[in-house]
Amino acid sequence: REYKIAVIPGDGIGNEVMDEGIKVLNLFAELKGDIKFTYEYFPWGCEYYLKTGKMMDDNGLDILKGFDSILLGAVGYPTVPDHISLHGLLIKIRQGFNQCVNLRPIKLLPGAPCPLKDKAPEDIDFVVIRENVEGEYSGVGGIRFADKPEEIAIQTSVFTRKNTEKVMKYAYDLAEKRNKKKKLTSTTKSNALNYSMVFWDKVFGEIGKQYPEVETESIHVDAISMFFIQKPQNYDVVVASNLFGDIITDLGAALQGGLGFAASGNLNIEKEFPSMFEPVHGSAPDIAGKGLANPIAMIWTAKMMLDDLLEDPKAEEIINAITDVLVEGKSLTPDLGGKATTQQVGDAICHKLKAR
Ligand code: NAI
Ligand code: MG
Repeated sequence: REYKIAVIPGDGIGNEVMDEGIKVLNLFAELKGDIKFTYEYFPWGCEYYLKTGKMMDDNGLDILKGFDSILLGAVGYPTVPDHISLHGLLIKIRQGFNQCVNLRPIKLLPGAPCPLKDKAPEDIDFVVIRENVEGEYSGVGGIRFADKPEEIAIQTSVFTRKNTEKVMKYAYDLAEKRNKKKKLTSTTKSNALNYSMVFWDKVFGEIGKQYPEVETESIHVDAISMFFIQKPQNYDVVVASNLFGDIITDLGAALQGGLGFAASGNLNIEKEFPSMFEPVHGSAPDIAGKGLANPIAMIWTAKMMLDDLLEDPKAEEIINAITDVLVEGKSLTPDLGGKATTQQVGDAICHKLKAR
């Protein structure tokens, strides 16, 4: 089968890590033999914005609709305000294609640098499901009395029953089939957010009735930030709203060795539209263009795309190949204390994948 992939490398290190992700995908297809990926590249991002005034073409969503999946590197540029780059491309695609679930594995691979010295890889292995199209990032609000002493900024959270139920169901399903602890933890703050999070807790409880074998708990977002560090082994699947999920997954990224390891998928779970896969890190202008970027997050992201498209257990070999390179410790980028370039790490992972 042939899969059509839309590739948006974006800005800065997005371009550098994308090459390595594609390299691994091509090798995977070659080793499997019966699948093929074709790619179409789109130059969208901040540099495109500086030239055209747009982060992506006006008919961007119409164009992307025809693909099986979307791979994104990173967008961001020092002279373009971050809310323009985020809302002009990423949030447009996430919301436009109803990618209501943001899936983020938090898994410490052997050989990856964990800041918690008493934790082993088996202690840090969970998945965060972040609600991805509404909540605190709905974009509802406004500014009144701009630049006056009485200026007011309003940003409203929106939680619909339909979407909240869908995300909760996805999280319960995952907890049921992940074959670990069968435990789902909900991230809340219903003591302070007395409408939105009280509603969130209610839906969490209602949907839970359909999953009697899944153990549940609700933890306030501030407390879970502490527990991620104190007892990460407690978690299996964690569900969180858009803002809370955004914050706790960066904390999770730190547990697994930093942004160089954090991969994510934005899933359209009805499969009406393509899903989009992207590393969690940004365009890293401080190291861009120098071959210093760690491509592991991008390669892991490409593996998540394979999981979504193929559901092929063979894709796990990519994680094993990354682990081989980490444990060997010879081809690592500077963020991991090594001297290898982005490209050399990609090559080393390919080499290990071939050898498996
Ligand atoms: P960043 O993730 O680009 O960089 C944070 C720090 O981590 C930097 O010191 C960077 O060098 C390092 N880093 C990030 N990825 C790395 C990798 N793969 N290998 C080695 N080191 C890595 O976040 P920052 O600096 O806050 O944002 C830079 C730009 O990226 C901004 O314009 C921001 O808006 C954008 N951004 C875009 C995202 C996206 O496209 N999804 C996500 C986060 C930020
Ligand atoms: Mg973030």
